[in-house]
Amino acid sequence: MHVQPLKGSFGADISGVDLKDPSTHKAVVDLFHLHGAIVVRGQELEPEHQLAFTRAFGTPELNQGSVFTYPGHEEILVISNRVVDGKVLGNLDAGIGWHTDSSYLEEPVMCTMLYAMEVPAVGSDTLLADLCAAYNDLPEERRKELDPLVIHHSFRALREMQGADPATIKPIPDVMHPMIRKHPVDGRKALWVSTGTVRGIVGMENPKGLNLIEELVAHATQDKYVYAHKWKVGDVLVWDNRCTLHTGTNFDREKYIRHVHRTWVKGDRPFN
Ligand code: SIN
Repeated sequence: MHVQPLKGSFGADISGVDLKDPSTHKAVVDLFHLHGAIVVRGQELEPEHQLAFTRAFGTPELNQGSVFTYPGHEEILVISNRVVDGKVLGNLDAGIGWHTDSSYLEEPVMCTMLYAMEVPAVGSDTLLADLCAAYNDLPEERRKELDPLVIHHSFRALREMQGADPATIKPIPDVMHPMIRKHPVDGRKALWVSTGTVRGIVGMENPKGLNLIEELVAHATQDKYVYAHKWKVGDVLVWDNRCTLHTGTNFDREKYIRHVHRTWVKGDRPFN
């Protein structure tokens, strides 16, 4: 197994491993917990192999009710613009805009895994922001001010912003989570902000609260904290939602096909 950083001290770029072999999983998962994200190159995985690797991280989260799950496997979400018999095979808009997956749940998903089977020659990079570096670089006084803050997360806020009919919005209760999140493995702290599914900061009037979140997201997503993953077929990318923000990016959908399988792993309640 060969390992090098993805960017600075962030992430691990892993090659020389065949994830079809379960005996490789533990070493890869250990690297993931310490580095915020991993890329494992050159894989040829069937859905069962991706699921076995996903289980090495924990319990897979189901995509209940999605019409784009892989047949027979509610754990796998198909992200694709491939059309077969006039029907698009996957969810096209999974994840444009800086966010951390399902932060609106009491127990947001711990990690997200994407396995690429077909990728555009240009575009569709996945961007990951290192929220621990973003936190560590803040002046000490600023860190002290932010340490006790709590963010109001809301699935409904996102659906309202998207103009959804209120009667059709899934009844997921709003939830409050610390802005500064401690990583359960080694206690490192992350500036755990997000966009889209946030209503503000507990005890702070808007627009002040939302403006502060926006300012901190802008801080955390500066180029110096962002790794841009340029996809190759066979890449497996796993990021840690406890300490990263991510966003998908666009590509020319008339010209290229992007076909990716996504799995999620259940997580814990964030703490500070
Ligand atoms: C996601 O946010 O889950 C997907 C991002 C991507 O497709 O690059």
